[in-house]
Amino acid sequence: MEMIRMEAPGELDMSIGEAMFTQRAIRRLDPHRPVSDARLKMVLDAASKAPSGGNSQPARFLVVRDRDRIREFGRLYHEAWWAKRRDELGWTGKADIPPGSVYRMASRLADEFGDAPVVVLALSLGGGGTAHSVFPSVQNLLLAARALGIGSVLTTLHPQVMERVYAMFGIPAEVAFHCCIPLGYPRGDFGPTSRFPSSETTSWERWNAKPPWA
Ligand SMILES: Cc1cc2nc3c(=O)[nH]c(=O)nc-3n(C[C@H](O)[C@H](O)[C@H](O)COP(=O)(O)O)c2cc1C
Repeated sequence: MEMIRMEAPGELDMSIGEAMFTQRAIRRLDPHRPVSDARLKMVLDAASKAPSGGNSQPARFLVVRDRDRIREFGRLYHEAWWAKRRDELGWTGKADIPPGSVYRMASRLADEFGDAPVVVLALSLGGGGTAHSVFPSVQNLLLAARALGIGSVLTTLHPQVMERVYAMFGIPAEVAFHCCIPLGYPRGDFGPTSRFPSSETTSWERWNAKPPWA
């Protein structure tokens, strides 16, 4: 495969600081506002610029735009989401989700996944073990989407549905699945993220020794 140099497209001009500090999980997507192919290309170009071990570039992205296929995939996503909750927490229905939990929003995404304007599957060549060389690309994709005003959220599936997902998209067995990302313009406003301060998550010189700004 030929490798090419690329310039950053002019539309990707949000500062990297703003993109990093405002990027967040957007689960309410506007089903009526399409994302253009040109913008999707920018997002995927940004993904392709990420680092990978030995510049091996194993990440591959499968873009799904067809309404019926997204609907069908949405049903598998819904099944997978509840299978994860059952395995991790023993939940079987919405009544089990504590009020105010992030799982409330996530379960709504599970209900609405099939309405997303675009779904991107992050895959990789070379079987398992390559996640380290895929997630930098995924993060670039999320940040580029943010810079273009496109909402996204990194989501995962469950072994229960994988065979059907592979069959649905004709994905060969040796290709590894990592995550799926619905994309679309946000529906309504979204606030800032809430994260641990770096003074709590950073050790300085020795494990658990505080950084100078703590
Ligand atoms: C590895 C990983 C898996 C995730 N899986 C899901 C998922 O299956 N469903 C979902 O709605 N969100 C999922 N998320 C999104 C997280 O819930 C979200 O990034 C986190 O709660 C922070 O949200 P915020 O950026 O809006 O504050 C996942 C995120 C990561 C990094």
